[in-house]
Amino acid sequence: MKLDKLRDMTYGYISTASLRAAIKLGIFSLVKEQPLSAYEISNRLNANLRYVNSLLHLLVDLELLEKKGDLFGNSSIANDFLIPDKPKYQGDFILHITNYWMTWAHLDERIIAGGPEFPYENGFVDAPTYWHDYIKGRHNLAFVGQADLLIQHTNLEGRAKMLDLGGAAGSYSIALCQAYAHLQAVVLDLKQPLEIAAELLPKYDLEDRINLMAADFHKDEFGRDFDVVLISAILRLFSDEEGRNILKKVYDSLLPGGLLIVQEFTPLEKPTQKSFMDKVLDLFLIVGHAQKGSDRSKEEMRAWIEDAGFCDFEFIGLPNQTTLMIANKR
Ligand SMILES: C[S@@+](CC[C@H](N)C(=O)[O-])C[C@H]1O[C@@H](n2cnc3c(N)ncnc32)[C@H](O)[C@@H]1O
Repeated sequence: MKLDKLRDMTYGYISTASLRAAIKLGIFSLVKEQPLSAYEISNRLNANLRYVNSLLHLLVDLELLEKKGDLFGNSSIANDFLIPDKPKYQGDFILHITNYWMTWAHLDERIIAGGPEFPYENGFVDAPTYWHDYIKGRHNLAFVGQADLLIQHTNLEGRAKMLDLGGAAGSYSIALCQAYAHLQAVVLDLKQPLEIAAELLPKYDLEDRINLMAADFHKDEFGRDFDVVLISAILRLFSDEEGRNILKKVYDSLLPGGLLIVQEFTPLEKPTQKSFMDKVLDLFLIVGHAQKGSDRSKEEMRAWIEDAGFCDFEFIGLPNQTTLMIANKR
């Protein structure tokens, strides 16, 4: 039993590799209309039948494909989440996370030396691929349900102009502008994410209501006329000093009575009883993103927000283990 557990851990990465390969090869799209045999799939991929056959059978055990007779078709998981252009597609996110393959292979070195290692630094993927998969992956996460939760648990009625700080592809601005017909948004981020946002906005017909602002949190001003600021999945990337400085600039960017919404992708309650996934994400944060980042407690976040000048603090734990913190400028 104990040895089985060790074996599962040892071979576990082959499941991840198979999922990644199937996405890159486009297998789920190939069989989306009708199930195909291994022979037909290998022909369409121009690939070796013996290898294709072996991969397909593994994907069946991973519940990503279903086999009926000699034919392979998509499982409901693949149908819902692994077909590009479907609204809940997760393939970009999976590619982004697995782009860190070589970084994790160097985990022992990271543990000794400290500091993150980005996939374009070790050559596993190039920088444009890294940014594409990262930012489209964030879009996958927003549109698989997080944007709906954000809309359900906030009220932007009567608000006119939102700053989406570190808004990446503008995913939450898109969803909120769709939900509130009079809302305008500014997505502030680095140059590379905004290139992806610029490609996406016309698909939602929102180029006129969402502006893109290339800026650096640490060097640039954010503007002064917002009545809402959204900060989603940002603050845990930074040190105490950096996070507090960002919140001070956010406070200054808001009009009196302005609303602050902080969204974080971990539960902030009971940090001493972290789940396995919280521990995975904590290690991912420092190995893959930011040495000074940290999984923060509710108390720390509350202190940062209140010390920046905000009042009427509200903390909302969402059903999917993510968190909203809402506060107002006096
Ligand atoms: C984890 S993503 C969050 C994206 C989006 N808000 C979401 O919730 O999906 C962090 C974002 O912060 C941006 N970012 C990180 N450091 C930044 C900086 N110094 N200035 C501007 N943007 C930055 C990244 O480019 C990235 O788009």
